[in-house]
Amino acid sequence: MSIKNEEELEGLKAVGRAVAITLKKMKEFTKIGMTTKELDEYGGKLLAEFGAVSAPIKDYNFPGHTCISINHVACHGIPTDNIILKEGDLVNIDVSAALNGYYGDNGGSFVLGEDIHNHAPLVKASQEILQMAISKIKDGVRISNVGGLIEKEAKRRGFNVIKNLCGHGIGRKLHEPPTEIANYRDRFNTQRFRKNSVIALETFISTKSKYVHQMEDGWTMKTKDNSFVTQHEHTLVVTDGLPIILTEENGVFEF
Ligand code: CO
Ligand code: CO
Repeated sequence: MSIKNEEELEGLKAVGRAVAITLKKMKEFTKIGMTTKELDEYGGKLLAEFGAVSAPIKDYNFPGHTCISINHVACHGIPTDNIILKEGDLVNIDVSAALNGYYGDNGGSFVLGEDIHNHAPLVKASQEILQMAISKIKDGVRISNVGGLIEKEAKRRGFNVIKNLCGHGIGRKLHEPPTEIANYRDRFNTQRFRKNSVIALETFISTKSKYVHQMEDGWTMKTKDNSFVTQHEHTLVVTDGLPIILTEENGVFEF
């Protein structure tokens, strides 16, 4: 959506804060031996305390309040009693919700416990690249240029980007135009970021694979070659200068 007045901005700030604090608290709550279902139920409770409704449930009938994606799963991991979190797991939590008709979306990847599989460089790359990409977004900038920057910075660090996942517009629904904010230079995308528009910018940085594939459950998006993938996401308002980060309180740059 494109923000027309102060009331809309306040509505977006409120939901941005709700999803950001929920994500931050879920990260802090994550423990070895816990199931992803337990973690999700805690997240659902936090969203309810804000009066917010899970966007994946509301818009897509997703089987969970949040998406919890472990190791080779890039996104849309279904919370389940069958996944017990282990030391060194690469955990991604993505929280999106609706509150008073406005939507917010954010996510972050982190290593659980001791980093026995050395995921830190991948996590750090994703955090730094998101930060860098945000700093380049302003009115008039081509969306494909930011995608190009994300891919270039990933490659410079020895990683790849996932080409079939992307950021998106947001506001009155979870997914709105611009529908594809790719992590690479999409030459066919001539769209530009526009002042007052609300977008969810997300990285998908991979140790090797450039694509993820949907599992038989109809949701889980996983790499075929067991590459690891990290994602960090903020909801932003585009301005003439630096974007307003609506989900700033999640602290994903320090995850
Ligand atoms: Co998200
Ligand atoms: Co998103």
